[in-house]
Amino acid sequence: MTHTIAGKIAFITGITGQDGRYLAELLLSKGYVVHGLVRWDAAPVDPRLVEMGVVLHDGDMIDALNITGIIKAVQPDEIYNLAALSHVRVSFDTPGSTFDINAKGTLNILDAVRVLAMEERVRIYQASSSEMFGSSAAPQNEDTPFHPCSPYGVSKLAGYWLGRIYRDSYNMFIANGILFNHESPTRGADFVTRKITRAVAAIEAGQQERMTLGNLDSIRDWGHARDYVRGMWMMLQQDTPDDYVLATGKAHSVLEFVTLAFEAIGVELEWRGEGVDEIAVNAKTGKTVITIDPQLFRPKEVHYLLGDASKARTKMGWQPEIRFEQLIEEMIKADRREILSVLEETNDDGDLWRKAG
Ligand code: GDD
Repeated sequence: MTHTIAGKIAFITGITGQDGRYLAELLLSKGYVVHGLVRWDAAPVDPRLVEMGVVLHDGDMIDALNITGIIKAVQPDEIYNLAALSHVRVSFDTPGSTFDINAKGTLNILDAVRVLAMEERVRIYQASSSEMFGSSAAPQNEDTPFHPCSPYGVSKLAGYWLGRIYRDSYNMFIANGILFNHESPTRGADFVTRKITRAVAAIEAGQQERMTLGNLDSIRDWGHARDYVRGMWMMLQQDTPDDYVLATGKAHSVLEFVTLAFEAIGVELEWRGEGVDEIAVNAKTGKTVITIDPQLFRPKEVHYLLGDASKARTKMGWQPEIRFEQLIEEMIKADRREILSVLEETNDDGDLWRKAG
């Protein structure tokens, strides 16, 4: 059965996360009817999702019958499986639930489509991750061996292989998107980029003196989530299902990210000391603004992720449009605006911030 895009039905798990929201916006703008899965015990859901027109379903990725029932009721043309325990550090503390959600949850989606005999109708996007490459040498592409370094990485690898096995065994349209880090102003505050931009804005406003960070030397390929959800959609519009790396092809250290974030508010940093004693001071005032907290180091770290997205570029015509510096600027601006709106609500003096724009 062929469908025009208008009236196509999409089902997004992980709709409340950064990518879920951007993807929902994209699909709604293309005329899709968008349904989303919300974990039954989730914190209050942003009402804007419903205002945008997303149909929400309470459920649980680890409950196979529940997921099967929802997919049967929704009758989707496309499923985007974005639900996950996605924090690498947390996956060391909760490896069991990481596996339940990321590996068993993925299996529940794939199996639901199979037992409902919807294999021919439904196309599935599986959110795989560059964390699966782990300690493999950079740059990484679709042919790079996987050497995950965390329970999260292994659980994502299980989802990736389940996707490939179901694709080959049952002739299902399943695409693995192997996405490198992608950020935005709506990124969760416990990921390093947003943690930094929020802290920088708060330090500028005098609400906070300093921030603590973990490993400053780890290197990531950071893009913008808006570019990456477009790639997810493109993967499901191809003639045949395949796996694609999405990345910018440019790598930066955490130290570089934080340096540029401070530059965006006109503060130059001076680094002093080494290892866990390393600090950064505001070069003008001499005030310490960054210290290291060894608790933020991971039991095992992925040091260097740099993606090679040539396949996505050549086969799908995908390429990122938002540059690293623009991403940081947009995140800082949004966090400054957020502080300004809180200051205004509390009738505090927001003058300092009006220039933030
Ligand atoms: N979160 C965090 N907090 N990370 C820190 C900190 C800190 O205070 N200080 C240094 N880092 C380092 C981490 O050790 C890691 O090397 C790097 O910053 C990035 O950490 P995160 O932002 O937490 O992201 P991630 O790379 O571990 O994982 C993200 O990207 C993956 C794709 O590669 C997540 O979004 C995963 O879900 C995603 O699959």
